[in-house]
Amino acid sequence: MRRVNKLPLTNQCHHWTRLGEVPWDLQKYWQQRYTIFPCYNEGIYMTQDAWFGVTPEPIANQIAQDLNSIISPSKTTIIDLFAGVGANAIALANATTNHGLEDRWDKVIAVELDAATLACAQHNASLHGVTDDIIWVLGDSFKFLDALLNSPDKLEDDLRVDVASTVLFASPPWGGPGYSTDEIFDLNTMEPYNLAKLYGSYKTMDHALYLPRTSDLRQIAKLGPERPKIEVVQYCVEGASKAMVAYIPAVQDEDTHGNITFGPESTT
Ligand SMILES: C[S@@+](CC[C@H](N)C(=O)[O-])C[C@H]1O[C@@H](n2cnc3c(N)ncnc32)[C@H](O)[C@@H]1O
Repeated sequence: MRRVNKLPLTNQCHHWTRLGEVPWDLQKYWQQRYTIFPCYNEGIYMTQDAWFGVTPEPIANQIAQDLNSIISPSKTTIIDLFAGVGANAIALANATTNHGLEDRWDKVIAVELDAATLACAQHNASLHGVTDDIIWVLGDSFKFLDALLNSPDKLEDDLRVDVASTVLFASPPWGGPGYSTDEIFDLNTMEPYNLAKLYGSYKTMDHALYLPRTSDLRQIAKLGPERPKIEVVQYCVEGASKAMVAYIPAVQDEDTHGNITFGPESTT
């Protein structure tokens, strides 16, 4: 777990300019490249896996705005726990200067497990002029969070943030390209991290979960039996829903929620 400055792009990082360069199973995603990153031609880099999970820039920008209205202004740090190739982290860093959200976040931390993917994110952030506004961490975000909550002394100064004023944003993998064609997506079986794993790790902090658009709302509702409100927003591009985000307040008293279950199929 370490803070990293600029990592080099590797041969796993691509900027494809012609359809002929693109593997057949990624061609439909590449065709949407200007929706995903309107400035794609300026030299956006992706890994192959990133095409399946990247947040389209218009949605990332809208989420950054919605975090501003939904999350208390007393929260001044945000951690993107699954940074990928950077779409959300860039939008969050941009929220310090754009969209009328001046100085929204004092600190944006972006954590990514895969070095090549993180190198793409840093490169893409530099194209957007915000690479130095983001603290980049290479490693497992569950371990990072565990250190933050339980042994902050192990973290470098920049990463040792005040938990009470920090919000988490999580866009985990959903299980790859064929993640599910079910009419209702079962969050208990989401791979590799199901809802119980995510919620169990994040529940003591305000957090936003970026989930499949057909996610089972009943499973999300069960997270908040004593909360007045969990906001769930559908995010659309060109008239079609692409994803939903559940904005989940921190539990106040852990004891009353510590043993929450998610129904008979819960796997944790
Ligand atoms: C759905 S993608 C995130 C997409 C990102 N929001 C974007 O717009 O590019 C999920 C990312 O999480 C990373 N990842 C998976 N497990 C992780 C973990 N335990 N800690 C940090 N990153 C992880 C994957 O390598 C992948 O890049």
